[in-house]
Amino acid sequence: MKVLLVGGGGREHALAWRLAQSPLLAKLWCAPGNPGIAAVAECVNIPAEDILALVAFATREAVDLVICGPEAPLTLGLADACAEAGLRCFGPSAAAARLEGSKTFTKEVCDAAGVPTAAWKRFEDADEARAYVQVMGAPIVVKADGLAAGKGVVVAATLEEAQDAITAIMDDRSLGNAGAAVVIEEFMAGEEVSFFALCDGAEALPLIGAQDHKRVGDGDTGPNTGGMGAYSPAPAFTDALREEVMARIIRPSLAEMARRGTPFRGVLFAGLMLTPAGPRLIEYNVRFGDPECQVLMLRLRGDLLAALDAACAGRLAQVALDWSPDPALVVVMAARGYPGTPEKGSVIGGLDEAAAIPGVTVFHAGTAQREDGAIVANGGRVLGIAATAPTLRAARDAAYAAVDALDWPEGFCRRDIGWRALPAPG
Ligand code: AMP
Ligand code: GLY
Repeated sequence: MKVLLVGGGGREHALAWRLAQSPLLAKLWCAPGNPGIAAVAECVNIPAEDILALVAFATREAVDLVICGPEAPLTLGLADACAEAGLRCFGPSAAAARLEGSKTFTKEVCDAAGVPTAAWKRFEDADEARAYVQVMGAPIVVKADGLAAGKGVVVAATLEEAQDAITAIMDDRSLGNAGAAVVIEEFMAGEEVSFFALCDGAEALPLIGAQDHKRVGDGDTGPNTGGMGAYSPAPAFTDALREEVMARIIRPSLAEMARRGTPFRGVLFAGLMLTPAGPRLIEYNVRFGDPECQVLMLRLRGDLLAALDAACAGRLAQVALDWSPDPALVVVMAARGYPGTPEKGSVIGGLDEAAAIPGVTVFHAGTAQREDGAIVANGGRVLGIAATAPTLRAARDAAYAAVDALDWPEGFCRRDIGWRALPAPG
């Protein structure tokens, strides 16, 4: 099969690395890709959001399957444009991608399907939102209704924080038009797990769970990020919980999407809160998580390309995937300044030394290659230092040994990835 992978981050490097191992693969392109991806695919200089150029390229090269990594091209209609051009695309239509693009839409689907989630109310008027928060009390959660790259959620411990968040999002439009409306949610307490299921519109195939570390600093301090590290399995997420999530959350949501005439095909990423009353949905995303995808790909044993192809063809019922029992863990290396404005251009040394440590795979996220061949930082999250080993402790030790093998003073990482499942490193 000829495959075009869309995106250029750590998630896409992990997908490309796994796809490249498929016996079904004849040719892999990645648009736009990155210097790490270039080792396993041919990178094409088309931005991930240039739908027309992507479809033109895929048509010209007679691509058999387009696989979309990030959410933005999906919400812009990549899968729809592929379908119109007679191309197959792994990823939902724009209508189904609203599960990530609109928090209100997701809540409506959940309510119609009876999916357990936080009680909620949507406001287009800031004064009404403030009055509602005053009545409900704190803690309470304020969310911008539109896509805000993970920055649109404020978990407010006090009423004052909640009021300030409404003012910033709605009055000051700190997140632009994503703040035209807010969703105010009940606060749910518990442990968070990321769970993934492949969907073909009718059937869902459970993948595995992972835990992410969203705050930038050790001990879960500082501002939220896209994710500073992840590990799998998540000990709190048992097989019984997975079956409960499939039965009470994933399958009812899928059935409701089909009932609405917008069946969901692609990977459904459920952010779950494991509450004392059982698992509840925090949110859906319509793509693999990053960095979660990196640990999933390390543990996947079956053929990724065959599974994604089956999801597109409505043949998911025939697929069984196998997972390594060995845990995997990824430490994200970010450029100084992240999650604010990261410094770009610093040279990263020691990549080969890091990758030579047994069990370690180095995924590129925000890197670029200079004309002289040097790999430099070119984004906020720059590298995913991933490792797998027979125990989570050994995987963590290998990943941090690789971090320490890097020569990149301008980079930083959290030192406590995996802390929920392990005591802090020595
Ligand atoms: P979201 O973008 O909706 O995933 O929210 C980002 C983060 O905010 C989540 O990963 C949770 O840690 C937290 N969060 C969101 N909604 C709630 C809620 N209703 N109760 C508690 N925490 C929440
Ligand atoms: N790591 C969380 C996400 O991809 O949204």
